[in-house]
Order: sequence, then C-alpha cells, then structure tokens
Amino acid sequence: MSDDVTSAPWWQDAVIYQLYIQSFADGNADGIGDIAGLRSRVGYLAGLGIDAIWITPWYRSPLRDAGYDVADYRAIHPRYGSVDEGRELIDACHAAGIRVILDLVPNHTSSDHQWFVEALGARPGSPERSRYHFRAGRDDGQSPPNDWLSVFGGPAWTQVTDAHGHPGEWYLHLFDSSQPDLNWDSDDVRSEFEDVLRFWFDLGVDGFRIDVATALVKAPGLPDLGYPDGAFLADLTRADHPHRDRDEVHEIYRSWRKLADSYDPPRMFAAEAWLDDPDRLSRYVRPDELHTTLNLYYLKSAWTADSMRRAIDASIAATSGVGAPTTWGLSNHDVERVVTRYGRADTSRRPGVSGPELGPVDERLGRRRARAAALLTLALPGSVYLYQGDELGLADAHVPEQARQDPIWIRSEGRRWGRDGARVPLPWTPDGSSHGFGDDGAWLPQPPGWGAHAVSAQEGDDASFLELYRTALHLRRTHPALGGTSEFQWRDAPRDDVLVFTREPGFACVVNFGSTPAPIPLDGRVLVSSDSGDTAGDVPPHGAVWLELHPAGRA
Ligand code: GLC
Ligand code: CA
Repeated sequence: MSDDVTSAPWWQDAVIYQLYIQSFADGNADGIGDIAGLRSRVGYLAGLGIDAIWITPWYRSPLRDAGYDVADYRAIHPRYGSVDEGRELIDACHAAGIRVILDLVPNHTSSDHQWFVEALGARPGSPERSRYHFRAGRDDGQSPPNDWLSVFGGPAWTQVTDAHGHPGEWYLHLFDSSQPDLNWDSDDVRSEFEDVLRFWFDLGVDGFRIDVATALVKAPGLPDLGYPDGAFLADLTRADHPHRDRDEVHEIYRSWRKLADSYDPPRMFAAEAWLDDPDRLSRYVRPDELHTTLNLYYLKSAWTADSMRRAIDASIAATSGVGAPTTWGLSNHDVERVVTRYGRADTSRRPGVSGPELGPVDERLGRRRARAAALLTLALPGSVYLYQGDELGLADAHVPEQARQDPIWIRSEGRRWGRDGARVPLPWTPDGSSHGFGDDGAWLPQPPGWGAHAVSAQEGDDASFLELYRTALHLRRTHPALGGTSEFQWRDAPRDDVLVFTREPGFACVVNFGSTPAPIPLDGRVLVSSDSGDTAGDVPPHGAVWLELHPAGRA
C-alpha cells in the first residue's frame, strides 16, 4: 500500500467513496448495514475503481443523529460489529488496494458520553463541567445564556436541573440537544482527541474526515450573534463569527498534522468546512495543517455553465495558493441526491435543508445532468468524493413521515424534511425483501421502484449509470492526463451554455448545460459520453463527453 517515494501522496488525486455504513449492506439480517455486510462487498468497491472509503461514524452512540453523537470514540457500535472486526475490515480493504478513512466528531459528544454524564452530576464551575460549555442563564436563569441557534432548529442551549431538582445551568449544543459542544480550551479535550487519533491510526486507519471542522473554537465570553433576520446561516461569512472559523482553531489542526506525520505512511485529514469564502477555506489546508478539505462550494453551485465554472476557478485558486489539491464532490449524506437536486427548475438553492417549498422534480432531467456532472467531476484535477448510491443514479427517496429519523425533521416539527431521503439502504438486486441489502428489511423503507436501480440490474448494461461510472473511473486511472493534478485549461466554447477544458496530454472534457445538442469544438475521438445513444459528433443536451485529442488538435 505504500506510495512509491517518487510519486505524489495518494490523497492528492484519490477517488474517495463515502460509505454510509448503516445503508450499505446488512450482513446479519437485522435491517441495518454493518461491517460484515461491508466486507462482503469489498469486491464491488474494488471493481468500481475507487481508491479509498470514508466510513461515516460507526462508534458507540445512542444514534440520535445517525452516529454523529458519539458516546465512546474507541468502541464500535455493536450493531455494526466490534473493534476486532473493524481491524479485519481495514486489513481486507488494504489487501484489495482500498484505503480507509474514518469520521471524527470533535465538536461535540453524545449526551450519553461518560464525560457529559459526569458533568451533569457535578457542580457548576467543576472541572467536569469545564469540558463542555455550561453557563448560567439570563433573566434570573430563565433564558438561554446567548442568542445562538441550533443548526437543527431551536435554541442552541438546554437547561439542566441541579442536584435538588431545581432549574440549573444551561449547556451549549450547536446541533441536537443530545450533542453537547466540547470546550476546546480544555486540556482534557485536546489530549483526549490526540489519543483517539492514535488509537485508530495504530489500528491501520489511513485518515480522518473531520466533522464540522470550523466550529470547535468559540469566542471568549460566548457573545451574542445578533441575528438580523433570524437565520442561522446568513452570516457564516461575517468576520469574527463567535462560533465558526475562528483563527484559533488552526492551532489544533497543526498539532494533529504533526501527529499524522509521525506515522509511516503518514495519515491524512479532510476537513468538513461549510465556508462560502474559498480563501478562508484555504487556511485549513496550509502545508502544516489538514491535507484536504471537502469542497462544499462546488457541491452547492447551480448546474449552469457560468456557476460551475466560477466554482471550479475559485476552488482551484483557493487551494493551489497553498499547494493543496482541490477536491470535488456532488453530494453527501447531508444534502439531496444529485439526481433530485439537478432535476429541479432552480438548482441554485442551498442543499440539505429541504422542505415543501422546493417544488417538483424532473428525475429524467436530473439523471441526464447527474451523468454529465459525473464526467465533469471526474475529469477535474485533484481528488473526488463520491457518495454511495450516486454511482447507481439514485434519486432522493420519499420516506414516509412516520419512518423519518433525522433530528432536522424532528426538531423543526416537520417544517424541514431532513436528510433521510439521501440515506435509504442501497439496492443490490432487483428483488428480495430489501433488494439484496440484507435478508430482512431495511431500517429506512426503500421506495417502490428501488430495485430498478439495483447493482445487479445495471451491471453489464452499457447504458447504465454504474457502467458509466466504472468506465470513467477506469479511464481516470489509466489515462495519463487524468488523475494527478496535471495542467488544466479552459478552452473556447461554441456557446455560453457549454464548458470546454483540456488536460495534458491530449485530453478534453466538453459539458453541455443546454437543452439542444452542442457541436464538439475540438478534433478528437470520444472516449466516453454521458449519453450512450448515437451522438453523431455532438455533445448531447444536458450531457458531457471525454475526448482523446488528435495530435493536430492539441494545444
Ligand atoms: C456534520 C455531519 C452531519 C451531522 C452534523 C453534526 O455536518 O455531516 O451529518 O448531523 O455534522 O455532527
Ligand atoms: Ca446488520
């Protein structure tokens, strides 16, 4: 698995498959994905042609936020397996040439974490409480200590009762009330997380995705935010935000980087950072900090030539300035699936906060665009994140109200649909009680028609999503211009709604955002097209092609 000393580190151009473990494959017929199921599908992952998997949180947890509420960072939830099985899985993945990244949740623990239980039992001002943010309320203790709001809805504070059963202090939770925020000024917190990193690195884990990487450090005194319009996210970019992107957070990552570099081979980090300003984002990937950041800027862009081009330029500019690779990704477990998002009349809205206001979806159009987007994304220089099921062209599933589990749905009292639609278990076969996901049902119900998108239904069908991804991933590995971070250059396009770029040697990608065929502006042979039909020398509407340029057509 080690990189050749002369080659670039693996994470610079890796395709990383985000594996939502509870919805990937169920090995013991309880309706929930697990390590045994995952192990049985390592061959599928290897055949797909990805370089690494990122496994979403598998730790012991009461699962009030799908495992992003960790009760024990050194234990795997029994419903997924044991730490021993985890180690065996890592070895099996390595043997298949796949690296393994875990998800670290350092901003908050679960309220079931031993530290929080101890804090509740301790007095105000105690060392136990100082690992979190406990404060007296305002108005004689009746109101929250400040005006911060939870990302999931409602205030970011919950009041506890004291030893005599009277209302006591309030604690901070930027997410659900079962996710108390840790106090990163505490030495206990800092040393605990370094220890947790070592625990998993020692087991062979290749890296970590860092959950809400921008939020760990809060402004001294926890000052009011002063929401002008009541919106939580409206002013994430404002200077001196009291709980996002504070300069002091970088010190934590510098120390983690040293730790990762002390391993052979060095381990890597990817930051989850929802920052709209690419320059602020680039600070997380300075040479002595994290290695990469998820590119949520690209993910949030509308599907238009202009908007995608701006996102690509801004992303490359931001990361190349600090010598880090750019990453690209079209979706994840927090947002609507690509097919659904791109099937809307307006693709410019902020994903992840869905509600009925979004309007109807044209899934056929969404699928065409998602196929084009796959070719666009896999042709860009840098590393790519692929969310499980996107390679099957899955759309968001309609999850019946009584089956929904996302705290966004619960805390918003049904005003926001939440993220369950993107988390429904994968279909592996057209038939069976859960379409081959397991032998006995699925924890989130699969919608009618799910089996049509099954892996086995697509395998071998050249027109399928899966084969498009396999072909593109294979070419990405074998074509000398792809992978790596080689030269990227925009070229003249025949129309405003078309993007054309080349990479050396001899490769071009043409994306047509319009609804009529566009001429191919360069002289070359089509390597792959997002539309399997005969395109007669054109780029199909809502489509894309990859070209091998004829020597004369090269720059
Ligand atoms: C991140 C995760 C999301 C989770 C939240 C709180 O945004 O991706 O799923 O709900 O953090 O941990
Ligand atoms: Ca299971």
